[in-house]
Amino acid sequence: MSIDHLRLLASRVPGLREMFASDAERAQRGTLDACGIHADFSRQLMDTALFAAALAHCDEIGLRGRIEAMFAGRTVNHTEGRAALHTALRARGSQAPEAREAATWMAGALELAAQVRDGAVVGSTGRRFTHVVNIGIGGSSLGPETVTRSLRRFHDGPEVRFVSNIDSADLDAALAGLDPETTLVCVASKTFTTQETLHNAERARRWLANACPRWQDHVVASTADPVAAVAWGIDPVRCLRLAEWVGGRFSVSSVVGFPVASAIGPAGFADFLDGMHEMDTHFLHAPFAENLPVVHGLLWWLNSAIRGFPAVAVVPYAADLALLPQHLQQLVMESLGKGVSEFGGPLSLDSSPVVFGTAGTDAQHSYFQMLHQGTRPIPVDFIGVVEPLGGDSAAHDLLVANMLAQSDALATGRSLGETEAATGSADPHRSSPGNRPSTVLFLSRLDPRHLGALVALYEHSVLVQGVLAGVNSFDQFGVEMGKQVAHAAAEALRATDEAASAAGPKSSVSHPLTMTHPLLEWYRSQKV
Ligand code: F6P
Repeated sequence: MSIDHLRLLASRVPGLREMFASDAERAQRGTLDACGIHADFSRQLMDTALFAAALAHCDEIGLRGRIEAMFAGRTVNHTEGRAALHTALRARGSQAPEAREAATWMAGALELAAQVRDGAVVGSTGRRFTHVVNIGIGGSSLGPETVTRSLRRFHDGPEVRFVSNIDSADLDAALAGLDPETTLVCVASKTFTTQETLHNAERARRWLANACPRWQDHVVASTADPVAAVAWGIDPVRCLRLAEWVGGRFSVSSVVGFPVASAIGPAGFADFLDGMHEMDTHFLHAPFAENLPVVHGLLWWLNSAIRGFPAVAVVPYAADLALLPQHLQQLVMESLGKGVSEFGGPLSLDSSPVVFGTAGTDAQHSYFQMLHQGTRPIPVDFIGVVEPLGGDSAAHDLLVANMLAQSDALATGRSLGETEAATGSADPHRSSPGNRPSTVLFLSRLDPRHLGALVALYEHSVLVQGVLAGVNSFDQFGVEMGKQVAHAAAEALRATDEAASAAGPKSSVSHPLTMTHPLLEWYRSQKV
């Protein structure tokens, strides 16, 4: 199936109004149920011909084989020579060597979380831990913070706070009001080299050491480099390990999930992993036409790469899921935002949408104006929860009503004639084009298991999109380049005034910063 043929079929898909008018079964046929998730894709710009052609395309590019290769631990991350075996982290009971090793490491992390929660492990003055402060960034923070926040109704352990930014206000705010003697700091860094994390960890260590007889009793590390962690001062028994084959943005199901287990308990975290495993199994075995991650990934790819829609909004209608869009930004754009194919060749199609989003109904009062009337269609993933999340079921009904209304209004729009009928004037300012695609995902309830299935759904949708785009979804050299320039800029700022004037374009720093050197100099001149 050629891309041009897919593009032609996409251009021939009738409007949503027409498709619903001509097919009374559309809503029912466009819905899939799996792992406690009810997925209504019927308001996507898809018809039978395009769906069949797109599925045939998935077969032609060998999607099934690529999925199986990832689950089998093959080297799917060619540029780094690694597997991407995050699915092994939740394959409880698997006899695969990687899964057994990961299970051992996870058992240690869950045991420590249990001991922190029940007071078997305490601080250096014998007092129980009342707070856990996770210091990490990117996948070492976004995933665990999203899951911790999403499950805040299940918290029955120490309060968990997250620090990611090197802006010292972030750490200051997290430590505000805390007693070092009852605080456990978790330094989360797969590489144990990330500048922001190590700088914050160093300051947290000093904060602990100034008040505790043995600061080491107040720190754990989750890392793939225990040697570096021990060299930094972490007690070897407090090093929680993850493997090199766990990508940062896929690491929430590894020991990086320690803060989650501290907040909701090992049993709750095991439920989260079980929900992920249930989605893994569905993804690995379900026929593509009934496969939630495959259909989801296919639709995102068609909207972005074939139709050229520049972005996608993820709008969870649940305050507890407010951080999910941030986690998905890294998961999708750090995986798919590439400039060359997985083998270094040119890309003929866009490889990733821009992902953004916030919780609904707030989003309606922020950017939904553009979604309804803007010049470019921006597809939306709506995520709702059937079981009320708070104590007011009437409010929950209003929440769900708003979500469904938005999805319908985006699809239906309002013509000039309808505007005239509704307002007495054929006012173009009050009409909207409609035919704007969205998906509605409903979780039966927002508990660890269903959240695990949802997170895994997006992880696997990213794989599908990466295979369709022909990119390596598991490396992130662009970001690492940014890290190097950051080090160079920091070095340039550290240089003395005298050295700085000499350090200009010919500076010794690894990156000349030629475009930015004048601004660096201006900043230095402004510093008090
Ligand atoms: O953003 C780049 C990145 O390497 C992410 O992939 C990773 O999650 C983050 O930095 C933090 O890296 P580490 O866990 O090694 O500190």
